Amino acid sequence: MSQTLTLWRNANLATLSDSSSWGWIDQGALLTQGEMLLWVGAEADLPIEQAPYITQTHDLGGALVTPGLIDCHTHLVYGGQRASEFELRLQGASYEEIARAGGGIRSTVAATRAATDAQLLASARQRALCLMREGVTTIEIKSGYGLSLEQEARCLRVARQLGSLLPVNVQTTFLGAHALPPEFEGRSDDYVDAVCAWMPQLHAQGLVDAVDAFCENIGFTPVQTRRVFETARALGLPVKLHAEQLSDQSGAALAAEFGALSCDHLEYLSTSGIAAMADSGTVAVLLPGAYYFLRDTHLPPVAALRAAGVPMAIASDHNPGSSPGLSLLLMLNMACTLFRLTPEEAVRGVTVHAARALGLKDRGQLMAGQRADFCVWDVAHPNELAYWFGRNPCTRVVVGAQEREL
Ligand code: NIG
Ligand code: FE
Repeated sequence: MSQTLTLWRNANLATLSDSSSWGWIDQGALLTQGEMLLWVGAEADLPIEQAPYITQTHDLGGALVTPGLIDCHTHLVYGGQRASEFELRLQGASYEEIARAGGGIRSTVAATRAATDAQLLASARQRALCLMREGVTTIEIKSGYGLSLEQEARCLRVARQLGSLLPVNVQTTFLGAHALPPEFEGRSDDYVDAVCAWMPQLHAQGLVDAVDAFCENIGFTPVQTRRVFETARALGLPVKLHAEQLSDQSGAALAAEFGALSCDHLEYLSTSGIAAMADSGTVAVLLPGAYYFLRDTHLPPVAALRAAGVPMAIASDHNPGSSPGLSLLLMLNMACTLFRLTPEEAVRGVTVHAARALGLKDRGQLMAGQRADFCVWDVAHPNELAYWFGRNPCTRVVVGAQEREL
């Protein structure tokens, strides 16, 4: 069999491929073939029969290597910004009050509709680059600021374009049920009908990897969310949910009933919601950036999620209203300080569990059969990834076995 292999040697590996101790391998090496990892282990155990096929060798200088980071929840494509709304909130207005007064998501919808394709692409590209410089190799991007068939398609196309222009993998999520657009004022059920009618068309254009909704007092009811999920299920599309962010709507249990990949936010998640997620194997995506920026004080039930064995992921939730941050490493730090995750849980949350939150089985761990997406770090131990903030120790990033220059 003819094959050419690349050897990446002289590294300490946090593989995360077993359930404890970081999947640590001292003095490790990786063998890549095409875009994939063919072998991962201690350098001393390198399979001798592969040696003749190695055409290229990289010395990683004894550095730490982890899987590429995965930001499994972002709203990266939008027009404008909401700094003045931030000022209003600092003066005492709540996120909900601003939304009910027609600001919030709706103001970003107006700015997004007014932006040209080129403007949307350029701004989203800059944001993606910020995430990528810190080692992000897969980004999920939601629509939800277009809220018409044409505008949602446009935002999803921009997301797909980012994935082809930049050395990063993009997963798209259709979030038509994010807010009620002004033209449907007072007709939220009609709008949900429209979202359900658009979904097959967007899917047919190859623009949808998953479907999401905002189940909340200022979003959509559980009954409306169910209709969105039923349509997704009929199309064979996986679902996820913005659930129990501002109040308990029993959204997590509803999502679990549909075998959701993830429920995200979860500050107001109930005990029965946790049990439902544990039963369905749904990932809890925790978003410390939104908790912090909205100055929330109601913590997600992390200890109970841990006790129930619900996998926890961490994401940036990058968006202009509730989480304008562009540092996944800062989210690791906040997940530990604010939510009391351990550094290892936090790093698993942006690798193996983030992959699961996207339904991706081919990434998130360093082991044979996974994509060769990995990061080289200028730190001695992976717990430092959650420790430093405002410092970027990422020195090299490899995507699909190709070293990436930004
Ligand atoms: O994930 N909660 C709903 N959606 C976003 C916020 C969107 C916005 O405020 O623009 C979130 O927090
Ligand atoms: Fe979000």
